[in-house]
Amino acid sequence: MNTPRRVEHQQTDRGTIPVYATGVVEQPWDDYSSVDHHVWGELFARQREVLDGRACQEFLDSQNVLQMTADAIPKFSELNPILREATGWELVGVEGLLPEYTFFEHLANRRFPVTWWIRKPEQIDYISEPDLFHDLFGHVPLLMNPVFADYMEAYGRGALKAHGISEEALLNLTRLYWYTVEFGLIRTDAGLRIYGAGIVSSKGESIYCLESDAPNRIGFDLERIMRAQYRIDTYQQTYFVIDSFEQLFDATRPDFTPIYARLANQPSIRARDVLDSDDVIHRGTREGFATDEDA
Ligand code: PHE
Ligand code: CO
Repeated sequence: MNTPRRVEHQQTDRGTIPVYATGVVEQPWDDYSSVDHHVWGELFARQREVLDGRACQEFLDSQNVLQMTADAIPKFSELNPILREATGWELVGVEGLLPEYTFFEHLANRRFPVTWWIRKPEQIDYISEPDLFHDLFGHVPLLMNPVFADYMEAYGRGALKAHGISEEALLNLTRLYWYTVEFGLIRTDAGLRIYGAGIVSSKGESIYCLESDAPNRIGFDLERIMRAQYRIDTYQQTYFVIDSFEQLFDATRPDFTPIYARLANQPSIRARDVLDSDDVIHRGTREGFATDEDA
């Protein structure tokens, strides 16, 4: 295998454009610098502290079982036997964003693509694209949970199917991924907790999503979520709350083909909006919300 590249978005005079890389690469572990390991360690220690009492217990426990620590960037080759044994998933290294179809093919085959490179020290608080910290720290722990692991595979298969139906169907599914896998909250006996990877890999949003009065927190509703626009450039304006991973998996079991047909005739919903039919856990004050159009 060739030495992997660090594929990042490109800045042009017309804004940022994403750049895609298709291949699977070996994690060049020996090539990480002490700065790379240090960035990992700092982010790891900081997030573990913030997530105590904020992330769901399944996430924290699984991270312990995987033996991730602040000491060094984990080796995919050491995580894989543990993952394979637990749920049959495996990690594959990638150079950056994958084209949609390639990404879904990996999920459908229980392979999770992890970006091999980590952000720079000046990007500790914010990076606009997935890096090793987001992918590994954020996504991989829940792949140890049997129900969530099945949901992710089913999602991959469903997305391959939606891809063959229409662009709109795929957009409906992308919103579902966004509001569950990336930004989902879960109700527990101890209160609301985080399970979304986009939240657990961000210190600011880990606190904001649970403690700020500004965003809405709304009970999970499959078709409602598939109509909801989202923002990629700010904290979320609405979070959707599941009761359990079983609820999530069960709701997504049916064939979506008739659902896509139904949704095609319905307008989308702005990220900030609350509907009369919503199961409102918290109605946001919208304080500080950006007022421009959603992405
Ligand atoms: N059941 C969905 C379908 O038939 C697939 C799916 C599963 C979608 C899980 C999302 C999550 O298309
Ligand atoms: Co992600």
